[in-house]
Amino acid sequence: METKFKIKNLNLYYGNFQALMNIDMEIYENKITALIGPSGCGKSTFLRTLNRMNDLIPNVSIEGTIKLDNKDIYNKDYDLIELRKRVGMVFQKPNPFPKTIYDNIVYGPKIHGVKDKEKLDYIVERTLKEVALWDETKDRLHKSALGLSGGQQQRLCIARCLAVEPEVILMDEPTSALDPVSTSKIEGLLEELTEKYTIVIVTHNMQQAGRVSDYTSFFLNGKVIENDKTEVIFSNPKDKKTEDYITGRFG
Ligand SMILES: Nc1ncnc2c1ncn2[C@@H]1O[C@H](COP(=O)(O)OP(=O)(O)O)[C@@H](O)[C@H]1O
Ligand SMILES: [Mg+2]
Repeated sequence: METKFKIKNLNLYYGNFQALMNIDMEIYENKITALIGPSGCGKSTFLRTLNRMNDLIPNVSIEGTIKLDNKDIYNKDYDLIELRKRVGMVFQKPNPFPKTIYDNIVYGPKIHGVKDKEKLDYIVERTLKEVALWDETKDRLHKSALGLSGGQQQRLCIARCLAVEPEVILMDEPTSALDPVSTSKIEGLLEELTEKYTIVIVTHNMQQAGRVSDYTSFFLNGKVIENDKTEVIFSNPKDKKTEDYITGRFG
């Protein structure tokens, strides 16, 4: 099993407020890692450190190292455009561009220099198939993405993320705005996606973490309390706080 990210001694501050404390973690390649914990414990903040999205927030300071394939992504020379191509992100609310389905998907590849129409057509078909949206959309590729249902929009956003061939996909509560049927469609996709991609998913739904993930990290007040195989976290946690959380005693 290969390590994709190696996080060491990570601290993050919003101004004077310390949101992440001394985090050490490894994230494994072609696995699904779930981040769980009560609201405000730092899950989204941690997720954003993995592709340096926190850089866009003023007054953030970060200490420690995060290595992606053994190179520190916080090194001054690290190419941010390259990083965000390799580490894509899907958000809580589906956020397609107000463009056609086709144009949503080719947006990233075009920025990265793909011009050939046949290649772009191929990317659209490949990614829509990867998210099981091809059959529903192949006859309306040049219609607005905003005409899709919420669940379809979220699958389109995943396809848009896959279009630039990332290695890692970060997902921040990707199903919390969706109905149960759309949620289970997306959960069903995740396992297939791990053939090619490494996935890190924030979820406040513990059942979801249990269903979809290989590894689970339990966050509390900016710290990682416990990080292990999902079956260990859910059936035999080592820390009393983890046990209290997963048995529903708080959060
Ligand atoms: N942009 C920000 N500026 C200041 N504080 C923030 C910002 N974003 C998050 N926080 C604070 O950092 C802590 C962790 O937030 P967050 O990572 O969003 O938690 P979670 O995703 O687990 O709900 C919270 O106390 C939150 O209020
Ligand atoms: Mg969050």
